[in-house]
Amino acid sequence: MKKLALVVLISGRGSNLKAIIEAADPQVEIRAVISNRPQAAGLLYAQQAGIATEVLDHTPFDSRIAYDQALQTCIDHYQPDLIALAGFMRILTPELVTHYRGRLINIHPSLLPAFKGLHTHKRVLDSKLTEHGASVHFVTEDLDSGPVILQARVLVLPNDNEDTLAARVLTEEHRIYPQVIHWFAEGRLQLQGQHVLLDGKPI
Ligand code: GAR
Repeated sequence: MKKLALVVLISGRGSNLKAIIEAADPQVEIRAVISNRPQAAGLLYAQQAGIATEVLDHTPFDSRIAYDQALQTCIDHYQPDLIALAGFMRILTPELVTHYRGRLINIHPSLLPAFKGLHTHKRVLDSKLTEHGASVHFVTEDLDSGPVILQARVLVLPNDNEDTLAARVLTEEHRIYPQVIHWFAEGRLQLQGQHVLLDGKPI
């Protein structure tokens, strides 16, 4: 069976990338890891695993469109079947998102559609909610709004702070992201309009 060609985009720590590498899915070939930040710690995980790395620093570009065009060229060089954003902290242009529609996914630390954007753990704590989690979703034009593929829930404990809650959510992120990528590799996932199909059925 042909392996799923995967490109992972990061900006920083890279713990989700590490989880994807450590999952060592025999049906997945990580073709490259691309970072928009030269200092992203996650690049080291890729290098240690013998995976090609690219740094495409956004700072010299004078427009988002110009950066995303360069990013698209960089990604397409590796001919991926799937692109996984793993802590890639940039808003993507509609052109880029459209180009990869159905094969561009993201992980976000909240139970989407709740808590899009940044500082999700603090906002959950401030809201006094008892439940939080993480979501893997298809990327569409609107930030953190694409159709959800898989979520994991965690309880918010009475003495949680931002760090303890973030750590518990992150453990779940590391579980669900490789799982979704595995479904892709098995050819089980599709985006149809705004709907996610698993084995041909709405999820
Ligand atoms: C993760 O918690 C991921 O869900 C979040 O950034 C962190 C990256 O950590 N992504 C977003 O907030 C995207 N909106 P990592 O670099 O250790 O994988």
